[in-house]
Amino acid sequence: MMLATLRPCVVLALLPALLLMAAGATAAEPDLVEQGRRMYVDGVRVSGKPVQATQNGGVMLSGPQAACIGCHRASGMGSVEGSQPVSPIGRRFLFAQEGDLVMANMDGRRGKTLNQTHAPYGDETLALALRQGVGVGGRPLSAVMPHFSLDAKDMAALKAYLQQLSSDYSPGVSQQTIRFAAVITPDVPDARRAIFKAMLQSALVAKNSSTAPRKRYMSSAASFVTQTERRWELQVWELTGAPQTWGPQLQQRHRDWPVFALLSGLSDSTWAPVDAFCQAQHVPCWFPSVGVPSAANSEADAAAGAHATYGLYFSRGVALEAAVLARELLDIKGKSAPKRRLQLHAGQAGAVAAQAFEQSARAQGHSLKSLTLATDAGASGLRSALQQVRAGDAVALWLDATQLPWLTGMTPPNGVKFYLSSSLTQTSTQLHLAPEWRSVVQWIYPYELPHKREANLAYLHSWLKLRNLPLVDEALQSELFFALNMMTDTLQDMLDNLYRDYLIERAQDMVSKRESGKAEQESRDRHTLGRAGRTVVNAELAHATTATDASNAMATQRRAFALGDSTGTSIYPRLSLGPGQRFASKGAYIVHVDADGALVADSDWIVP
Ligand code: HEC
Repeated sequence: MMLATLRPCVVLALLPALLLMAAGATAAEPDLVEQGRRMYVDGVRVSGKPVQATQNGGVMLSGPQAACIGCHRASGMGSVEGSQPVSPIGRRFLFAQEGDLVMANMDGRRGKTLNQTHAPYGDETLALALRQGVGVGGRPLSAVMPHFSLDAKDMAALKAYLQQLSSDYSPGVSQQTIRFAAVITPDVPDARRAIFKAMLQSALVAKNSSTAPRKRYMSSAASFVTQTERRWELQVWELTGAPQTWGPQLQQRHRDWPVFALLSGLSDSTWAPVDAFCQAQHVPCWFPSVGVPSAANSEADAAAGAHATYGLYFSRGVALEAAVLARELLDIKGKSAPKRRLQLHAGQAGAVAAQAFEQSARAQGHSLKSLTLATDAGASGLRSALQQVRAGDAVALWLDATQLPWLTGMTPPNGVKFYLSSSLTQTSTQLHLAPEWRSVVQWIYPYELPHKREANLAYLHSWLKLRNLPLVDEALQSELFFALNMMTDTLQDMLDNLYRDYLIERAQDMVSKRESGKAEQESRDRHTLGRAGRTVVNAELAHATTATDASNAMATQRRAFALGDSTGTSIYPRLSLGPGQRFASKGAYIVHVDADGALVADSDWIVP
């Protein structure tokens, strides 16, 4: 990054502490703030009438369409995406003394507009900006910023709201540190728990040794210029007991040790109580590895009644897989079309899959027969349930990793197609089954196919090797690796604007671009390495502490070069989010395993 072009911003960035001190104006009355919140978020005036505005000199906007949140976002940090940057309008931007403005953004193309230094807004200048589109100091604002019809009461309420908007760091953040928790639900077996904790621990050590004052290396111009890189502190919160007690456990731990966000996380049953905690407490829940993310099963459910979402997930989990299967069965036409659809499920996650499958089948006008098994039904319970199956049926078996062995030793009925979920059974790499079942089972596979994802996961593999950590579960480990790296990158991008709403907003804006950008960078590194045999000085090598570490990293990278181009950095083919969205991967393949144990795709990537 060229520092010369950033000089004016650098000056602005040097005084964030002063700004915080200057923020000590008298606290506004809470009901004024609440009235302001309704205008900002819902587009409702103090009188209860909808906010009215005109945009681009004529287009009428009313109520929610005119609400500030639609453009300036929940955090008030605006946005740098698209052709029209939207200015940050939180306290530290609108009301800061000249010269004390914090830095909003490092993007060279956006920096100038967003970091524009201006005199602090007052009552009159704010009214002029809102009613007539004239910024403080007489600068005409872009025609995208609407002109509002607001009276003095509205203005007072709005100002009170803006004066407290993103005025302090969110809980869990201090000048030097930032706190996270990683939650694990009680159902997770020891092996997965152990590798999860080992990776977290290792990442934390690497992270903090690179930010320690004496070992600091300049990982980006942003962290160098603004000194924003903080030490990470992390607790693993291992929940116990029944799901209905998890909420109170989380609240207690959060009272004792407030965190900025829940970083990753792990569950083999349901995550819904954790998601509910995050929504209620406004704690971001950051890409955990879970099969049942929340009670809201679709973007539409999640969006209903909520402006901000505090959970970001890789996908809808088993509910997505169920919808993919319903879609696949719909697409099979002619003689091989299933005569009947059946499903068998056991356990909590299985029940969620079954419910989603039933919903999709019903939406398509198909009937479905559901059989519920006790979680301890065992092979004999499964055997008697399977007696209801007839030739020509398609049967979804929503079994998890502990229930899968029930199939061993049983002969599959003739002429029946079976479907298993690979995320429920935790078989992202090896889909093992007894040979007699292998030929009649297809899998719903929400990951990129193994040969295609090798390049994308090359960095994970080299990272694990460097730290002598085993590859136990590729899906889980790559998800955790992504969550950690994505957090690092997003924090760097946020500079000193550490607000929870902004974290979610930046991730929603960044994830698609970051995926393609990183993939390109990694491919380019590999080409450079291959062409000239030169050392690629990346963060990996910078972290290598011994010569053996470094040479291992080099060897892995040389191997990675042979893999071809990356298309992303996770186990999913593509991740994307937009404002308000919470599920990043939207589809799955249908696959089977051939006689040699190789995984073969039977469908394209299906997005239901
Ligand atoms: C349709 C999108 C949109 C909506 C709705 C909107 N704004 Fe803006 N606003 C903008 C854009 C774009 C700018 C940047 C204009 C520029 O810099 O030329 C802006 C700029 C501003 C500025 C000037 C900031 C500065 O640095 O000088 C203020 C103040 C402001 N908006 C407040 C509000 C408030 C309060 C609301 C709700 C009542 C609101 N805006 C609603 C798009 C919007």
